[in-house]
Amino acid sequence: MGDPRLLEVSTEVDVFDAAILEPLLTDMWDTMAAENGAGLAAPQIGVMQRVVIFGFHTNPRYADAPPIPQTVLINPVITALGDTQEEGWEGCLSVPGMRGMVPRYRDIHYRGFDQFGNEIEREVSGFHARVVQHECDHLDGVLYPQRIRDMRQFGFLDTLSETGVIELQPCDDDP
Ligand code: NI
Repeated sequence: MGDPRLLEVSTEVDVFDAAILEPLLTDMWDTMAAENGAGLAAPQIGVMQRVVIFGFHTNPRYADAPPIPQTVLINPVITALGDTQEEGWEGCLSVPGMRGMVPRYRDIHYRGFDQFGNEIEREVSGFHARVVQHECDHLDGVLYPQRIRDMRQFGFLDTLSETGVIELQPCDDDP
């Protein structure tokens, strides 16, 4: 946070060129795995393309979270299904060490493409929907603190944990 690139709108991928996408995706998966993240967006590693990855089978940092299929999503489009929003704790690799309470649509439809140009289309809810909304926000230059409604619910993870404010596993892509 503070790098102006994280506030930019990223550009669509118009050529599904493996020579470009494969090294990028390898770098992204490696970065995400190293941080035990739930997801990552290309702008977080300085690549201003509309590419996100997310998903895990089991994750020590999200012991209570249902698994999300490991997904590459390019040029994503999200549509909210209904008006219902849920508040939940989020963190971000780009805002290290912090957590904030963020409202997200509970139910969404999303579509996009994998790295081979195959269409992906899903309807998801809850944690899965939250992760996708968080990662896709990065493509529009939006970091989760911009979505916090009550700034009193924003703080250091260590302190929030020590004081018992955070009891449930947060949703985040932060170490
Ligand atoms: Ni993030």
